[in-house]
Amino acid sequence: MSPFHLTRTLPEDATGAALRADVLNGLTRTPKTLPPKWFYDALGSALFDRITELPEYYPTRAEREILLGRAAEIAAASGARTLVELGSGSSDKTRHLLDAMPGLHAYVPVDVSESALRQAGEALVAERPGLEVHALIADFTAGIRLPETPGPRLVAFLGGTIGNLVPEERAAFLTSVRALLAPGDALLLGTDLVKDEGVLVAAYDDAAGVTAAFNKNVLSVMNRELGADFDPGAFDHVAVWDAEREWIEMRLRSRTAQTVKVPALDLAVDFAAGEELRTEVSAKFRREGVKAELATAGLNLTHWWTDAEGRFALSLSVAG
Ligand code: SAH
Ligand code: TRP
Repeated sequence: MSPFHLTRTLPEDATGAALRADVLNGLTRTPKTLPPKWFYDALGSALFDRITELPEYYPTRAEREILLGRAAEIAAASGARTLVELGSGSSDKTRHLLDAMPGLHAYVPVDVSESALRQAGEALVAERPGLEVHALIADFTAGIRLPETPGPRLVAFLGGTIGNLVPEERAAFLTSVRALLAPGDALLLGTDLVKDEGVLVAAYDDAAGVTAAFNKNVLSVMNRELGADFDPGAFDHVAVWDAEREWIEMRLRSRTAQTVKVPALDLAVDFAAGEELRTEVSAKFRREGVKAELATAGLNLTHWWTDAEGRFALSLSVAG
C-alpha cells in the first residue's frame, strides 16, 4: 500500500459551484473583486513557483533563511508527531522543517491545487520512506477535517499566505485553526513585514512580468471553467501599496470600455475604461498586530524569528 493518501474533502463539483458563486458575487458588485484561491490551477501553481525565484520576490528566500536557521528549535518547541501544512503548494521550504523532525509520523499538506499536492506528495514519500503523507484537497477557509494521526500537532501556514485574507477573514480563519488544535499543539505562522514601499511594490510587480501573468491567469481560469471571453491582453496588472491598511492590493485594470460574457452564469459584465477588478490583497504585518490577532483566537505567541534583514517573520504560538 502506498503511504501517499489523497483525500478530496469537497464534493467533485464543489469547486465549480463555489467558483460560480464567487464570480457572480464578485463581478456584480462595485468595486469588482475575486477571491484569490482561483489563481491556483495547475498553471497558476507553476507561475507562483516562478514568482518565488524572482529577484524582486524576497519573501520566499527570507522565510527559507529563517526555517533553515530555526528548524531544530521549532521541532523541539512543538514536539510534533503530525505536521499539518495549510496552502502547502510545492512543500519546498517545508523540507527544512521535515529534515529537523526525524520522529515525525505524518505530514498532512492541505491545498486547493490538486496538481501541486500530487507533485509534492509523490516526491516526498519517495524521498522519505518512513513518513505517512495524507494530502487534503480542501479550502482552508471553509473549515477542514484532519485525518486521525498522532499528536502533538504542529500546523504550519507559510509563505505569508495569511496576508491574502482580509482582517475579518483572518479572525475567522485563526479561530478555525485554533479549533483543530488540542491544548499544547502549535501554529507556525509566516508573516511578511511592513517595509519600504518600493521594495513591496517591486515584489508584486516584477520586471519580467511573471506576477502580471499570474494575476491575469485568473481570467483564463474563468474562460476555461465558465466559458467566459476575457481577453487577458485587454487588462493591465496593477500593484499598489495601501499605507493605511498596510497591504499590497493586486488589481486588473481594464484598458478600454468592454463587455465580458460569462455564459455559465448567464452574465454580461461591463467594464469602464480604467475600471479595476481587485484580485488579491497581501497584508504586511508588525509583531504587535500578529500577537494580538493570535491572542484573540486563543493562541499565545511564544517565539518570533525574523531573517537577518528583518523582512519576514515566523512565529510560533501555542493553543492554551
Ligand atoms: N506555502 C507555499 C505556497 C504559498 S502560495 C509557499 O510558502 O511557497 C499559496 C498556496 O495556498 C497555493 O499553493 C494555493 O493553491 C493555496 N491556497 C490558496 N487559497 C487556498 C484556500 N482557500 N484553501 C487551500 N489552499 C489555498
Ligand atoms: N502569498 C503570496 C503573497 O502574498 C501570494 C502571491 C505572491 C501573489 N505574489 C502574488 C498573489 C501575485 C497574487 C499575485 O506574497
